[in-house]
Formats: sequence, C-alpha cells, structure tokens
Amino acid sequence: MKRLIAEREKARLGGGEKRIEAQHSKGKFTARERIDMLLDEGSFEEYDMFVTHRTSDFELDKELYLSDGVITGHGTIDGRTVYIFSQDFTVLGGSLSETNALKICKIMDQAMKVGAPLIGINDSGGARIQEGVRSLAGYASIFQRNIMASGVIPQISAIFGPCAGGAVYSPALTDFILMSDKTSCMFVTGPKVVKTVTGETISDEDLGGASMHATKSGVTHFVGADEKESILLIRKLLSYLPQNNLEEPPVSVCDDPADRIDENLNTIIPEKPSIPYDVKDIIHSIADNGEFLEVQRQYARNIVIGFVTFNGISTGIVANQPNYLAGCLDINASRKSARFVRFCDAFNIPIVTLVDVPGFLPGSAQEFDGIITNGAKLIFAYGEATVPKITVILRKAYGGAYCVMSSKQLRGDVNYAWPTAEIAVMGPRGAIEVLYNRELKKLSNDEERARFVADNASEYREKFSNPYEAAKYGYIDDIIEPRNTRFRIIRALQTLSTKKDSNPPKKHSTLPL
Ligand code: HXC
Repeated sequence: MKRLIAEREKARLGGGEKRIEAQHSKGKFTARERIDMLLDEGSFEEYDMFVTHRTSDFELDKELYLSDGVITGHGTIDGRTVYIFSQDFTVLGGSLSETNALKICKIMDQAMKVGAPLIGINDSGGARIQEGVRSLAGYASIFQRNIMASGVIPQISAIFGPCAGGAVYSPALTDFILMSDKTSCMFVTGPKVVKTVTGETISDEDLGGASMHATKSGVTHFVGADEKESILLIRKLLSYLPQNNLEEPPVSVCDDPADRIDENLNTIIPEKPSIPYDVKDIIHSIADNGEFLEVQRQYARNIVIGFVTFNGISTGIVANQPNYLAGCLDINASRKSARFVRFCDAFNIPIVTLVDVPGFLPGSAQEFDGIITNGAKLIFAYGEATVPKITVILRKAYGGAYCVMSSKQLRGDVNYAWPTAEIAVMGPRGAIEVLYNRELKKLSNDEERARFVADNASEYREKFSNPYEAAKYGYIDDIIEPRNTRFRIIRALQTLSTKKDSNPPKKHSTLPL
C-alpha cells in the first residue's frame, strides 16, 4: 500500500517540479491539470500510470518517468463517458515513444468498443528522437486508429503546445481541432527547416499559430483565448454531439417557446437586393435562446457553419453570409461547408441550410485553384447526406449555387422560401445582358444601354426574382412568413425525426477530393 501511494505520487510529478514550473511560466497547464479541468470532478479513471519506456539508447535508461509522457484514461463530461489522452510536456517534451503510442492506442481501441468520443490533448516535441523508427511506427498506429474511428466516434484534438512534423496528422485526421491562442502551434516543417530550405524567415506564431490557422489555413475549428476557455469550448461542443454514429444526438431541455415569433425577421432583408445583412442575426433569432456555437468563425466567412438547438434538438446550420463576399461560394467556403455537412450526416445531426447566394465566385484565381472540383465537394456532401435536411431560401438562390445549397433535387426534405426569395439562373442584370445581347449592341451609348437593361430587368424580376415560379413546380414546399421561421423549422425537424433514407451499397464513394 505504501509503495502504491509513493509510486502514484511520483507519477503525478511527471518530469519534476522544475519542469512543471517551467510549464506554468509559459501560461500552460500540466497534462493532469488539463484533464482535471476538462472532466467532471472525480470522474477520471487513469490507465497505465506505471508504464515506462524500454529504451537505453542515448542513455535514455537514465531518464525513466512513470506514465512515460502521456496521461491516458476515461472520465465523464456532463455525465457522458469520454476517452482522453493528454501529452505531458514535462517528460521529455511530451515526445511520442513506442510505449507512449501503445498507451494512446489502448484507449483509442477501448473508445471504439465502448462507443465514446475521444479527446486528445497535444503538447509535444513530436516523435521521440532517441527511439527512431519505433516512435514513427507509434504515430502510424495512431493514424490508423484515427481513420478507423472516423465517422464512428467523435474525435476532438486540443492543441495546447507545439505540434510539429508528422505529428500534426493525427489531429488533422480527427473531426475538430481546437487551438489555444499564443501558446500553441502546428506545422509540418518548423521555422528552422523553412529557413534552411526556402530562405524564408518566419516565427512559430506566424507560421503555425492559432490565429494563422483560424484565418488562413482553416486547419483549426476553434480558438480559445487561453486553455481554460478552450476547455469550456470542448465541453460545449460535445453537448451537441452523440456518443457515436449509432446514437442520436442528445436532446436538451428547452425553455424557449417553440412557437416564438420574431416580427423583426419580416423586415430583415433589405429592400435593395444588393444591400448586405448579417445572416447570423437570423440564426440567433431562430435558435433556442439565441445560442449558436460557430465553427471556423474566422475562415471563409462567406459561409457560416455551426451548431444550434431547435426546441432542444441538436442541429447543424449552414448559411451563406451576404455580409462577406456577398455570400458567394468559393473554394474555401465549399470545402468548409462540405466537411461540416459530412460530419453532421455521419453523426445523425439534422442540417438546416439558410440560402442567400448570388452564385460561385467568378475569376481566374478560383478557376486555377479548382473551384470545379472543390465546389463539387459541397454538392456531393449534400446529395449523399441522409439526415433530415431543411432548407430556407432567404433571398438569392442563383445558378448552380441554387442546386448546391440543399435543393429539393439533392434530396432536401423540406424546402421553404421567404417571400423575398429570388430563384433564377442568374441575377436580372446579367440575364438581360445575355438575353438581349444583340439589341444592346445596337444602342449607341452607356446611358441608353443602362435604361434598356433597367426596363427589361423589371419583367425578368417579375418572372423569376420571386419564389412563386419555383413553388409552382413543387421545388419549394411552401413560402413562409419570415417571422414564423423558428416554428416551421421545429415542426419540420419533429416530423422528420423518424426519417429513413439510404444510399446504394458500396465500398465507399469516390468523392472528388
Ligand atoms: C526527445 C525531446 C523532443 C523529441 C523535445 N524534447 N522534443 N526529446 N524527442 N522530439 C525534450 C528536450 O530535449 C528537452 O529535454 C525537453 O523535451 C523540452 O524541450 P525544449 O527544447 O527545452 O523546450 P522548448 O524550448 O519549449 O521547445 C519545444 C520544441 C523543441 C519546439 C518542441 O523541443 C523542438 O523543436 N523539439 C523537436 C521538434 C521536432 O522536430 N520533432 C520531430 C518532429 S517530426 P530536457 O531534458 O532538456 O528537459 C515528427 C515525426 C512524426 O514528429 C512522424 C509521424 C509520421
């Protein structure tokens, strides 16, 4: 008994007091402190506390630490089981050894058997250099498990320190990445290698800090101001997710009336079609208690994605954002939303799509970078998804972008339009310029041409810039009053809760990656 108490105490000290102090002085918590903050109090059950590495090369046998630089086990968050590993930077820089990888793989295997989410807290110098290929093999074993777990259990990666080299690919294979601002970084090759190979001088933060990944690469889905905020974000995110792909997402208690009407919505769309507005105002208005957990908030801001509840039902939101690039679909927006739609579909989370899209972003930059292949990802994701899909066309649904945004023909279950909806092949000005090309050429000056376009645009607008033409063909199930949107969505979600749909049997699709 005495020995057990002594050994446990030793294990809890990780790499020792000095290194713990160094960790704290960087504004970081230790691996164990992070677990304590994340899990319900007293719920953590640790595995493999007494594991040590098996290497004597480079005199590593003189540096033996109980737990070997990673803390693993399971606990609960809001009473629901999660599996967790947390890398301990105080032990050999949290570097991944053969035994360290075995510990992580053990809890990954168990998370899969139990059907519970996996959370990885990363804070590591990467592969343990002294162990060579054995540590690389350890990473590959983790990757393989990440892949098998994908779409079966939710996988969340928190980055609370360095995450470099091939080590970044385990988080990259998981569903959500969350970085703590200023104290974390992720890159495949660090600043030193970049300098040697390309001559470029760049700091850790600029190359792979949270801010860069939130705005430029889109690699991280969330950024917490510090570790405490990041941990709260993980708990919040999990509240929207089921334990695994065979379960329904949790239904929360809702005190916001399902039939709450918001008169403001009747006038939220500006009179002039070219004036933008913030689609997030609409999301906050219709969601339970105005709460919205936005995903990738700073990346591809022309599309907004995230989680809400409707009368307690966990739901994914995809919404074009007229406030940014007029809500055009471009490569980044397509990839961002396609991935989100596939996540929701994999985990039985219904999708509500709010449409106001003037089309795909034109331009050589987009074409050169493959808007064709990337735009196809979003079409594919929507068309493949079998979860309940509800669409509300708020204003513009032009061209291919109409088809993409969960249209009836991509198996949209309930497709509504506001009276302000404009559903057409293209906007009135562009359409007149194509349709009356010959007549326009005959006109002698810009003024006359502008008048001609304006005169004919009104006829076009009357015919197509409204939802009635689409409703006539049944492509829109109903035209709804904006103020009733919350109630109509909730009723549709309740009706669709028993929906069953499937795809033909196949090994897997050939999604245009
Ligand atoms: C063994 C390591 C280590 C590693 C750090 N340490 N990284 N030990 N293997 N990979 C040890 C250090 O020797 C040191 O030991 C302690 O951890 C803390 O490291 P410091 O350098 O003092 O800390 P800091 O200044 O904060 O710098 C952190 C760091 C730096 C940026 C992570 O340590 C670093 O650059 N490490 C190497 C990163 C790297 O290139 N790794 C390989 C990536 S490739 P003492 O005893 O002094 O406390 C990779 C391949 C994966 O991982 C492949 C997957 C397919």
